[in-house]
Amino acid sequence: MVVTPPKTVEYILSRIGEIKNGQKILDPCVGPGIFVKKLIENGIDKSQIFAYDINSNFLVDIEKLGITTKKQDSLIALYPDSYNEFDFIIGNPPYLNKASAYVRKHKNKLKKIYGRINAHETYAMFIINSIWRLKEGGKLGFITSDSFLTLSTHKKLRKFILNNCKINEILLAPKNLFSNQKVSTSPVIIILSKYSGQKNKNFRENNIMRIIPRINSEDNYYNPSIINEIRQEKYNSLSYNIFFTDIEEEILDLFEKSPKLNNYIQGFIGMHTHNNKKFIAAIDDTRLAEVFKKRNEKIKNLDKKYRIISRDNLDSYQWKPYLKRGGADQYYRPIMEALDWKTESKKNYDIPKNVPFEKEGIIISGVSSKLAVRYMPEGCYWDSNKAIGFIIKNKSVSIQYILGLLNSSLYNYLAKGIINNTSSIQITGINALPFIKPEKEIQEKIETLVSSIIKNLEKNLNYDYVKEQKLIDGLIFNFYTKKFGLPIELKEKLDKGYSIYSRE
Ligand SMILES: C[S@@+](CC[C@H](N)C(=O)[O-])C[C@H]1O[C@@H](n2cnc3c(N)ncnc32)[C@H](O)[C@@H]1O
Repeated sequence: MVVTPPKTVEYILSRIGEIKNGQKILDPCVGPGIFVKKLIENGIDKSQIFAYDINSNFLVDIEKLGITTKKQDSLIALYPDSYNEFDFIIGNPPYLNKASAYVRKHKNKLKKIYGRINAHETYAMFIINSIWRLKEGGKLGFITSDSFLTLSTHKKLRKFILNNCKINEILLAPKNLFSNQKVSTSPVIIILSKYSGQKNKNFRENNIMRIIPRINSEDNYYNPSIINEIRQEKYNSLSYNIFFTDIEEEILDLFEKSPKLNNYIQGFIGMHTHNNKKFIAAIDDTRLAEVFKKRNEKIKNLDKKYRIISRDNLDSYQWKPYLKRGGADQYYRPIMEALDWKTESKKNYDIPKNVPFEKEGIIISGVSSKLAVRYMPEGCYWDSNKAIGFIIKNKSVSIQYILGLLNSSLYNYLAKGIINNTSSIQITGINALPFIKPEKEIQEKIETLVSSIIKNLEKNLNYDYVKEQKLIDGLIFNFYTKKFGLPIELKEKLDKGYSIYSRE
C-alpha cells in the first residue's frame, strides 16, 4: 500500500485552489485517507468530501470521519450521473499495469470504457475517469507515475488531456518520494482544470502552464529552482505530444522546423526464433562464449548445453551473424552470436517480410541508458527485442555520418533527455528525431573520425575514443547552432549530462 507523504498531500491541496462552500471534492481511491484527513484538518466541511475505494477494509475507518464513502471500483462503476459531478478530484491512484491481476481480470470491461485512450495502466485510467467525473472548470490534483508524460504508448492520453483540460501545473516530484515503500517509480504531480470541447480550444492553447523539472526534496515544492512557463499549444510541437518539462526554445524550434530522421533512415523490428537457447550460438572468441562455457560446466545433459561455434562458421551457409543485445556500446561491437540457418531450424522462425535483413546498416540499442548506435555489417539478422536494425534510406548520407550524429551528445540529449527518458528506445522515438542535412565538409570530417574510431575498436575493444568523440560532439553542436542558434549554455549541459566523458 503506497501512502502519499504529508508534505506532498499539502502541496497538492494548496495547488488546486480554494474550495468554496458547497463544492464537492472526491478522492476516488482513498486508501487510508491521507488526502481526506488533510481536507478535514484544513476545515473543509465534511458534507463536501467524498471517498471511494474498491477495498472496504479501508472504508471502515474512513466512514468514522463523517464524510461520504462508497465501496466501489471507481474505474468500472461509471453511471450517467457520474459525469460532471465533482468540483475537485484529488489523490494518488494505484499504479497497476497490464500485467497486474486487476487489469488482467477486468481487461474486457476496461477496454470497453478506456480502450480508445489507454486501458493498460490504472493510473492512466484514473486520470481519464476523473476528468469525466469533473464539472466544467473543475480541478484535478494527482500524484502519479511520470511515465505518461513522454512514452509513446501514452500518446492518446496526452491528447485526451490536451483536448479536455487546461494544464495548470506539472511538477516532477522527488525520485525518492516513495522509496521507503519499495516503489520504484518516478512521480509527477499534475494539476488540471477541465475545459473541454472545441469552444475552449483557444483558451486551452493559450493557457500558460507552470512546468517544474525534477525537484530533489519535498522542501522545494514552494520554491523550486526552475519554473518554466510554457504556452500549452507548445505541447503540440513534439511528435506524439510529448509533455516535456525542461527544454530550450531553440531545441523546440529544431523539432518543429526540421525534417524528421525517418526520411533518411528506416528501422525495422526483427525476428523471433521462439527458442533462442536452442537456435542461437555464441561465437568462440567473445565475452558471451566465456559466459556460456562457464554455464556449460554445470550442465551434464549434452542437449541442454549452450551452443558455441567458431567464428569461421559464420562464413558457412549454416550460420548467420545475429544481433539481439542492447547495452551502451557505441560505434562497434564484434558480432557475438550466430543464428542457426539449417533448413530444419529455419522452419521454427518468425521472420517478418519486408525487413531488409542482411543489408549493411546500423543497430540501435533498444534498451540502454544512453543512445547507443553501432555499425551493422552486411549479412546480419536481428532479434525483435533489444536490438533494432536500421538501414539508410537516402544515399546522400552515409552510415558513418549517422553513427557519429546519433552517438553525439546533442542527439543523446534529443533522444534520451527529451523524447524518452526511460531506458527503452523505440523506432517511433528515433523516427521523431530531427535531421538537418550536413554540409559536405562536416559530413566528411565526421566520417573520418567515425571510421577511425571503428578501426581502432576493431583492433582493441578498450580503445578510448574520448578525443574523437569530443571533436564529433563539437562539430555537430556547431553545425546545429549555425542553423538554430542553440545557446552556448546547452553545450555545457550536454558535456555534463549527455556525453561519454560526462559518464566517466
Ligand atoms: C496508491 S493507494 C492511494 C492511497 C491514498 N490516496 C494515499 O495517497 O495515501 C491506492 C488505493 O486505491 C485503491 N484502489 C485500487 N484500485 C481501485 C479501483 N479500481 N477503484 C477504487 N479504488 C481502487 C486501493 O484499494 C488503495 O486503497
